[in-house]
Amino acid sequence: MARITASVYTSHVPAIGAAIDLGKSAEPYWQPLFRGYEFSKQWLAENRPDLVFLVYNDHATSFSLDLIPTFAIGCAERFEPADEGWGPRPVPPVIGHPELAAHITQSVIQDDFDLTIANKLDVDHGLTVPLSLMCGQPEAWPFKVIPFAVNVVQYPVPSGRRCFALGQAIRRAVESFDEDLNVQIWGTGGMTHQLQGPRAGLINREWDQAWLDKLIAEPAAAAAVPHIDYVREAGSEGIELVMWLIARGAMADVAGGPAPRVRHRFYHVPASNTAVGHLILENP
Ligand code: DHB
Ligand code: FE
Repeated sequence: MARITASVYTSHVPAIGAAIDLGKSAEPYWQPLFRGYEFSKQWLAENRPDLVFLVYNDHATSFSLDLIPTFAIGCAERFEPADEGWGPRPVPPVIGHPELAAHITQSVIQDDFDLTIANKLDVDHGLTVPLSLMCGQPEAWPFKVIPFAVNVVQYPVPSGRRCFALGQAIRRAVESFDEDLNVQIWGTGGMTHQLQGPRAGLINREWDQAWLDKLIAEPAAAAAVPHIDYVREAGSEGIELVMWLIARGAMADVAGGPAPRVRHRFYHVPASNTAVGHLILENP
């Protein structure tokens, strides 16, 4: 049986990818940020999954206003890094798991969540920056990845409550797959940031820290936070945090199991315009 052993949460700022790719991660601006992921790289090397179910958002890269799936699951054998305007990032292609992706699609759709099936999908910084933060610069990513894209760009976006329930359906789907697989689920994006308008540059440390506390200890309460609170308190792009609720919903305690163990918590301001948050939770 496949099992979800841990969840990882991290921001996905594109400038972090550029800092890594251009060899700037030791510069004074970036050093404190990358220091916060040193533990995580070590932890991941010691807790190597077979596969990561990676929840992220496409930033009008592979999708556009022409086509806006609320939830899209990557079912391909392989996913190329996307060209976001400066050429594709110099990172390895992402190797998928079509059998497990098809199984999750079947299970989750029959569990009443409407997924879009993506058989061809280039992956942008929302997916590749978390991989770089957690894995560094390997020749090949050390596990398979199922990309799972959520619309948090064009309103209406899914509620935190729906994302949390979807995470529970994903856990049921993973646990009903026959092959023995160690699966991690990652939620990316956030935390507070606003890239546009008069409030561009907004950061709200108190709100971010309180939201992290809630996500860990009272995830159903975090899932009940309405959209307008994210926009007011976390900025227009802070809504990316609903993706963390998909990963949190897939943890064992939500289905009556034991509480997760907090292995790592990190928070750093700023990276570009963003407050970077990062958590590692393990199922005991
Ligand atoms: C920034 C952050 C994001 O999450 C993103 O998708 C794009 C830009 C930023 O802070 O620059
Ligand atoms: Fe983003």
